Amino acid sequence: MSFYNRLMAKYYDAAIGATERRCFSPWRSQLLQQAEGDLLEVGAGTGLNLPHYPQQVERLILSEPDPYMRRRLQQKLPIHKQPAQITAWPAEKINLADGSLDTVVSTLVLCSVDSVQQSLQELFRVLKPGGQLLFLEHVIANDASTVRWQKFWEPLWKCACGNCHLTRDTVYKIEEMGMIIKDMTEETITGAPSIVRRAVIGRAQKPHSKA
Ligand SMILES: C[S@@+](CC[C@H](N)C(=O)[O-])C[C@H]1O[C@@H](n2cnc3c(N)ncnc32)[C@H](O)[C@@H]1O
Repeated sequence: MSFYNRLMAKYYDAAIGATERRCFSPWRSQLLQQAEGDLLEVGAGTGLNLPHYPQQVERLILSEPDPYMRRRLQQKLPIHKQPAQITAWPAEKINLADGSLDTVVSTLVLCSVDSVQQSLQELFRVLKPGGQLLFLEHVIANDASTVRWQKFWEPLWKCACGNCHLTRDTVYKIEEMGMIIKDMTEETITGAPSIVRRAVIGRAQKPHSKA
């Protein structure tokens, strides 16, 4: 497993390079313009979001449980002249007080966490009332034929791609957690296989108070 993780971390940027230039980089830039205040990014990977953070981010915390990814992240910090705290917290267990953050960022992570439910519970917990979750995720397709193929390939895909699930209905889960979707666009990851083509980019808000 650790050999595999090492390879993933080493070749991640190269492996998604073409898609990054074509789709993800402009999407990250558009999404992260809204980032502000005290911010935690979960599953920060090799730090592909770093160049996109605006100045209104006051405190940047990057969490990444995989030690090989974390090392890459550490190496990228000086390149982007970003002061940040790097931690190993998984999204399911964040060592921060309730209601302590203005923004939480998750890009291409909620497909890979062990428990979406637990992760979203934690993200919700650490956000201040009125705080925002900025997300960019690939999700379950919206046509039955592609969903059938996603279900067929998912067991193998998970093993080959770091626990990445193909059939997660992440937006539904975010809303189920009690967050309010404020803006969201659906996009197509051009050039990707049909089973990972549908993406959502958006901003969800933790309500100011319980209704
Ligand atoms: C596809 S990569 C995305 C990396 C980065 N967020 C990006 O946008 O390029 C998935 C990342 O999620 C991380 N990850 C996996 N399980 C996680 C968990 N339970 N909590 C937080 N991050 C996790 C992986 O280590 C990996 O860095």
